[in-house]
Amino acid sequence: MRGTVVVITGATSGIGQVAAERLAAMGARLVLVARDRTRGEATLARLRERGPGLAHRAHYADLSRVADTKRVAAEIAAAEPRVDVLINNAGALFNARQVTPDGLERTFATNHMAYFLLTHGLRERLLASAPARVVNTSSNAHRRATLDFDDLQSSRDYKGLEVYGRSKLCNILYTRELARRSAGTGVTANSLHPGFVATRFGDESGGPFSYVIRVAKVFAISSEKGAETIVYLASSPDVATISGGYFYQNQLATPTRAAQDDAVAGRLWSETRKLAGL
Ligand SMILES: NC(=O)c1ccc[n+]([C@@H]2O[C@H](COP(=O)([O-])OP(=O)(O)OC[C@H]3O[C@@H](n4cnc5c(N)ncnc54)[C@H](OP(=O)(O)O)[C@@H]3O)[C@@H](O)[C@H]2O)c1
Repeated sequence: MRGTVVVITGATSGIGQVAAERLAAMGARLVLVARDRTRGEATLARLRERGPGLAHRAHYADLSRVADTKRVAAEIAAAEPRVDVLINNAGALFNARQVTPDGLERTFATNHMAYFLLTHGLRERLLASAPARVVNTSSNAHRRATLDFDDLQSSRDYKGLEVYGRSKLCNILYTRELARRSAGTGVTANSLHPGFVATRFGDESGGPFSYVIRVAKVFAISSEKGAETIVYLASSPDVATISGGYFYQNQLATPTRAAQDDAVAGRLWSETRKLAGL
């Protein structure tokens, strides 16, 4: 990874933080997108220990906001002549429905829209750096989900876990469509399930879910283990030419039929573009 630039979201905690540290230790220069300066600086300090002399950087944005995500993508594109790997990983679950100032449901905005916008904003840099990789953290929580294009913002009958599952289905569908559209460019796109990992995930979701997930985490794997597939997809020569895949434990896995529906993936792409004002 020496000489490569890796842009990563959600590296101030959990699996993203471990993945960033591992990639820095392998010689990559990390560019973080974080929302909290104190947490961003703390992660940078750890990166400087793991990968010294590499001028790791942090940029700040609330990835649930369209304008903020567009702005940070433009800021990184202006600062970084090359982006070899983009890891879209920041994500959250919200027990109660919230609407962002853009009029988007907050899970959809944070977990799906930000992946789309950041990748779109860094597309030229990725193409210029080819071979390059996009790695999107999804989840097996997609397994019971289907998309309803008449209610992408989950305004009817909001259930936090179901809405989260739909956003993770969006991650896989988006990755497939990105891979299809990027064929022949040298830019690959793959998604992954990290496993059930004991991170801060869900702690601030509110309602009974926060309590249930804290208890359930007794059975979860460590962030070190959960980060493995991110690091593998970002760095391994084994997957240099694989694109459009869904991975678990460094292996290709089969997502649900709903997650393999290319017509739905294409429609999600155009609906997202419209919502993003692109
Ligand atoms: N944990 C699991 O069992 C599990 C299972 C399957 C998939 N996943 C996925 O793994 C990914 C990482 O989650 P994790 O388990 O490592 O959870 P985590 O410890 O809660 O980390 C989430 C990260 O996302 C960042 N983030 C959240 N909302 C953001 C926003 N609006 N703007 C900018 N950054 C934001 C957080 O920043 P702060 O530090 O500022 O909060 C943090 O760095 C997520 O996509 C999640 O869906 C997790």
